[in-house]
Amino acid sequence: MTNPSINPNQQAEPQQNNPESAMKRIRIFDTTLRDGEQSPGASLAPEQKIILARQLAKLGIDVIEPGFPISSPGDFSAVQQVSRELQNVEIVGFARAVKADIDSAVRATEDAARRRLHLFLSSSDIHLAYQLRKSRDQVVQIAREMVAYGKQFVNEIEFSCMDASRSGRDFVIEMVEAVIAEGATIINLPDTLGYAMPEEYGEMFRSVRKHARGGESVSYSAHCHNDLGLAVANSLAAIQAGATQIEVTVNGIGERAGNCSLEELVMAIETRKSVIGAETGIVTSEIFETSRMVSRAMNFPIAYNKPIVGRNAFQHESGIHQDGLLKNRNTYEIMDPEALGIPRSMIVLGKHSGRHALKHRLAGYGITLNETELLNLYNRFVEKADEIKLVPDDVLIRLASETTETQHD
Ligand code: KIV
Ligand code: ZN
Repeated sequence: MTNPSINPNQQAEPQQNNPESAMKRIRIFDTTLRDGEQSPGASLAPEQKIILARQLAKLGIDVIEPGFPISSPGDFSAVQQVSRELQNVEIVGFARAVKADIDSAVRATEDAARRRLHLFLSSSDIHLAYQLRKSRDQVVQIAREMVAYGKQFVNEIEFSCMDASRSGRDFVIEMVEAVIAEGATIINLPDTLGYAMPEEYGEMFRSVRKHARGGESVSYSAHCHNDLGLAVANSLAAIQAGATQIEVTVNGIGERAGNCSLEELVMAIETRKSVIGAETGIVTSEIFETSRMVSRAMNFPIAYNKPIVGRNAFQHESGIHQDGLLKNRNTYEIMDPEALGIPRSMIVLGKHSGRHALKHRLAGYGITLNETELLNLYNRFVEKADEIKLVPDDVLIRLASETTETQHD
């Protein structure tokens, strides 16, 4: 699927050598309806999940995780309905490494045209000691048995070593080898607590790929949380280190500080494609609509300054920036908001706006002022902006007509 081009007037990005690969196709795995829904207060009814899943399919998501089938009848039914309806997307049944979970995930996804079982089990010593209360040997044994069990029902098995980034590297490698031997096809190495630094996270992928027996025969996925604001950077580092699937949520929604934000990751890849050496199948013109739908359904407001989809992401108040934009949008914009489905960047008129911006805005309404009128309007406009901060167009038009009337008296 091709993406609408971003900033067609922009100069071509400098080509850089990407030693790891040629242009790679990154598969986008959306977990808004599973991990994202774990965000406090963001839970969804099954019907809402179906509506959002349809939109995710329209957005071009490759893999959808619609819920956690064993967790509730509602989630089971949502996963089942999405599996029945969305035949062009791979559907994931999420499960702990426990037979009852696997049975539930397998049943919920049985009508999907393409499905995957996603098993997870912790690999960090702290989780083993306090949560699982099991030794490393026991955990490897469970992982082996449960992958083998799941493999009777499905071909594609994704295995997640939960808390991989805080786990002993040798043990992650041991677990990965064991699950590959039993038939896991996708290995996910999550940064469950959002703790990793990009260098470290990338290095983990390189070393697991290289040292785990069978490590080159499977594909790799990154799943990053945003506790230190590094989820997107870490996901990009994983791509550089060989990951071909990234797990994301719309608006970065998710437990605590959330997950890797779909729109930020996709637009980083799109905007810096030649540097990153990768592309996605996302239909970028659906990004804004998807973001708004998720925000409304989950009753989760989007921060004004949130990259890509925040209210201010494409707004420019400073007069210098507005002036530059009027001459050439690439002076102060690195993405074309229209390619994301966002109505053309509205120049917000406030006290930092210049005369040029006022003139341009009024010209859009067919109002032209001579230089003296414009100067008078500008003086009144600045006073008004001091009073009400952002000046809506109707107020500006009223000020303009008052100004011209005064001129003609
Ligand atoms: O954050 C995490 O580790 C997860 C996995 C279970 C995939 O959500
Ligand atoms: Zn997670």
